[in-house]
Amino acid sequence: MSIAIIGGSGLMVLEGLEIERQQMQKTPYGEPSGPLTFGLLNNREIIFLPRHGNPHIIPPHEINYRANVWALRENGVEDIIAINAVGGITTEMTPGKLVIPDQLIDYTWSRQHTFFAKNDKEVVHVDFTVPYTPSLRQQILRAAKSISVDCIDGGTYGATQGPRLETAAEVLRMESDGCGLVGMTGMPEAVLARELELNYACISVVANWAAGKSDELISMESIQEYLHKGMGKVRTLLSATIRGNRT
Ligand code: HPA
Repeated sequence: MSIAIIGGSGLMVLEGLEIERQQMQKTPYGEPSGPLTFGLLNNREIIFLPRHGNPHIIPPHEINYRANVWALRENGVEDIIAINAVGGITTEMTPGKLVIPDQLIDYTWSRQHTFFAKNDKEVVHVDFTVPYTPSLRQQILRAAKSISVDCIDGGTYGATQGPRLETAAEVLRMESDGCGLVGMTGMPEAVLARELELNYACISVVANWAAGKSDELISMESIQEYLHKGMGKVRTLLSATIRGNRT
């Protein structure tokens, strides 16, 4: 079984990964965000792909999510751990926290969000009741516990279109919908993984209070600072998760 890590903002390179090779992968949907990086993390073969490219130049709404997920599957990946920067909506989702969401609401629009098309033999509706794979979530949470990395178990990720941040009213609406987190890259990645029958879980890094949830305006400097600190914990957590993922 092979595992992939999709890096988000703040995680363009994976320190600790002993790189073996990089490979550009063509897909029927175009090119992924960059070459797939094959390497060893904690002596385990993994594939790393930063979804915004390296350097970070592809905005959330222009990421070729289909090519990214397809390319990973083509290379034998069965488990995807996605790293996503988010804003915190509910009081427990304070900047700096790591969260393993268990639900999501999709507010994105006009993205290429499915592999299924008009000329397919039949119309397919994948089950998406539980959008994140429970066993993979548990692996991450167990690893977090084993190394005493504080991690919130559960939360609803609201995926917005971006690239702008939200208005305060939009965040209030999301909160009343049940969202605890807001980010721009969680969808359609999660459902594309489901369509290809891959296991998928997300580590969200809270980088700021969502719009209107703090008296201060959201600054990119402050986001970068929290991301920098959060990604340090993410790297340790990924390493521990990979150690436990030996099936
Ligand atoms: N909104 C949407 N996406 C984000 C945010 C936010 O507040 N912070 C980091 N990614």
